[in-house]
Amino acid sequence: MKGILLAGGSGTRLRPLTNGLNKHLLPVFDKPMVFYPLATLMQAGIRDILLITHPADKPVFEALLGPGAGLGLKISYAVQEKPNGIAEAFLIGEKFIDGEPCALILGDNIFHGGDFTELVSHAAKRKSGASVFAREVHDPQRFGVVEFDGHGRARRLVEKPKDPRSNWAVTGLYLYDNQVTGIAKTLKPSARGELEITDVNKAYLEKDALNVECLDPTTAWLDTGTPEALLEAANFIQKTEQNEGRKIACLEEIAWRSGFITLDQMMAAGAGYAKTAYGEYLATLYETECAKNEKAELRVAS
Ligand code: DAU
Repeated sequence: MKGILLAGGSGTRLRPLTNGLNKHLLPVFDKPMVFYPLATLMQAGIRDILLITHPADKPVFEALLGPGAGLGLKISYAVQEKPNGIAEAFLIGEKFIDGEPCALILGDNIFHGGDFTELVSHAAKRKSGASVFAREVHDPQRFGVVEFDGHGRARRLVEKPKDPRSNWAVTGLYLYDNQVTGIAKTLKPSARGELEITDVNKAYLEKDALNVECLDPTTAWLDTGTPEALLEAANFIQKTEQNEGRKIACLEEIAWRSGFITLDQMMAAGAGYAKTAYGEYLATLYETECAKNEKAELRVAS
């Protein structure tokens, strides 16, 4: 499965923070925001990734993430001239997708904990249809909303309903089969002038091919859309990292744990972070693993 990371948009709700800076480069505690959705794609086992952003920001993302080889990834870059809607990603990415199944993650969505990684990895193995991930929220009018029938089956999807009939928001990670580009080509801009991702999901729902996975309450889904939400997200990451004693969205660690790179390659990829807490974390991880491997070798030898 391929993956698209969407990091365009206008970031208007975060101005003046975003006057001169792409929203997805803003810090969420100790990492740029874009690290978090990239980590989610990697945790789903996705290594071939297209990052879509504004023409002016493309060189910045290229400098930040490069071609991805150090992380065992293949990252390519494309531009969205204007924020014409999330579903435009499949038109821009048509060549990249090349008729294969494709995941899309919004660059401002942060997921952590619970059974999220297992849920996504399981959904990524589905051969046909689409999978979306829903979360119960107190302000559903801000999101794409899914309504369920009496048997818990998705019945209706509405983008930002004024009068929501459900509290279940559709989050910004979507997994699609190879039909998605064809569906995106049939879309017409909505009343607000955007190609809506909810319309793509509606097309799958109409074909009875939409799987809606409900996130368990222990999975965090963080909003970064306003200055308050951004600060809360940063505080959450800092506290959770402290409590769990491990970093969230440490790309080098995820690449190593996912088997994309070796332990030595993990250290090489993090070489630029010496003298930072991030670098120290990687060094400690490396030393602990080396010590474990040495012990295991001694056990085999004796
Ligand atoms: O976060 C989940 C929600 O994301 C879903 O529940 C909604 O159904 C979906 O429409 C979307 O709603 P938002 O109002 O949060 O979308 P927003 O315009 O803020 O854009 C979300 C991300 O996608 C953000 O990182 C910017 C990027 N984006 C957005 C648009 C419209 C682009 O890169 N290009 C675009 O054209």
